[in-house]
Amino acid sequence: MKPAIRVAVTGAAGNITYSILFKIAAGEMLGKDQPIILNLLEIPQAMGALRGVAMELEDCAYPLLQEINIFDNPEQGFKDVQYAMLIGARPRGPGMERKDLLEANAAIFSAQGKAINDHANREVRVLVVGNPANTNALIACRNAPDLNPNQFTAMTRLDHQRTQGILGNVLGANSKDVKGVIIWGNHSATQFPDLHHVHVHGKPALESVDEAWYREKFIPIIQQRGAVVIKARGASSAASAAQAAINHMRDWALGTGDDWVSMSIPSDGSYGIKKGIIYSFPVRCNYGRYEIVQGLDVNNFSHEKMIATQNELLEERSAVEHLLPPETAARMEDPFGRANTTEVTQLDDECLRAGPQIVKTDRVI
Ligand SMILES: NC(=O)c1ccc[n+]([C@@H]2O[C@H](COP(=O)([O-])OP(=O)(O)OC[C@H]3O[C@@H](n4cnc5c(N)ncnc54)[C@H](O)[C@@H]3O)[C@@H](O)[C@H]2O)c1
Repeated sequence: MKPAIRVAVTGAAGNITYSILFKIAAGEMLGKDQPIILNLLEIPQAMGALRGVAMELEDCAYPLLQEINIFDNPEQGFKDVQYAMLIGARPRGPGMERKDLLEANAAIFSAQGKAINDHANREVRVLVVGNPANTNALIACRNAPDLNPNQFTAMTRLDHQRTQGILGNVLGANSKDVKGVIIWGNHSATQFPDLHHVHVHGKPALESVDEAWYREKFIPIIQQRGAVVIKARGASSAASAAQAAINHMRDWALGTGDDWVSMSIPSDGSYGIKKGIIYSFPVRCNYGRYEIVQGLDVNNFSHEKMIATQNELLEERSAVEHLLPPETAARMEDPFGRANTTEVTQLDDECLRAGPQIVKTDRVI
């Protein structure tokens, strides 16, 4: 049997986590043969509710779930974790300006970034879901000077899957046959869902839909989907966000297969996007690493949209600049650590039997 992997999840008594924790424990994220230890984090006021969630997890008698630990502080909660899913965030309250929301979350994510830096496994992989996800991820990353920036990601997988699901529906295809979707930029209404590289059953999608419909109707449908779900349901997307987070981590850990996916990651300057922000790119994952898909054609229409969403991220960064340690700015210039040599790779049974839980290699994809 493989040694257990320790996964931390924040906001563990919230809506998304009420769906996600049961999927992780059932092996949907890291594999049906991978034992799991769950470290669940909440704010002190929510510890009662969290205890109830922990009881339910226990009551499911999942064979892969070896331990459930609950914490109200990040220092203990992130100790030795190999995966950290930062889902808890401060919601926008009445009368709260966007800047206030950014600042309230900056306080949470800088403390969590520091705690991950000081206590987590050195190869930890971090996914930020709590909004504003890209900027929260940047804040956590900039507060973790001992880790590589590429260990911090934010979630645009839900937007990616919305694009696959809705376009598949429009064209009468299964979402798995909608390949080559890209979400560029921020997880916000400025994101750019790009269909220029999408093929459905091998045929370019833009040969099957009207270009004006794509530009004027489809793009806003994806950009506004979260708000439309809230209006219809009276609550925000939770199960679909949970599924997207599972898929993001699963692919990062176990590989993407024959398609690429969208992940918000530290920009390395690819496609002319400014460094120093966490921006959504098309990536392929293998051996526990991700790599930006290079060489895709970008027309003027796409370029304009990609820059607009980049500019929003730059504005968000300026709003929290005073909370970002200046000494970590330079590391964002080389987010993939190409100047350094060693990289993380996925565990395999052979290595695990040999002893260490995480191995380092020079293998690159
Ligand atoms: N990136 C995406 O695609 C995406 C999609 C959907 C939702 N979201 C975001 O995910 C977040 C969670 O959504 P939800 O519906 O589960 O919200 P929710 O309000 O139901 O749950 C959030 C939980 O986080 C907890 N929390 C707050 N601060 C915390 C902290 N410092 N440490 C630990 N826990 C903390 C709260 O107590 C609460 O239980 C929101 O910010 C939401 O906007 C992102």
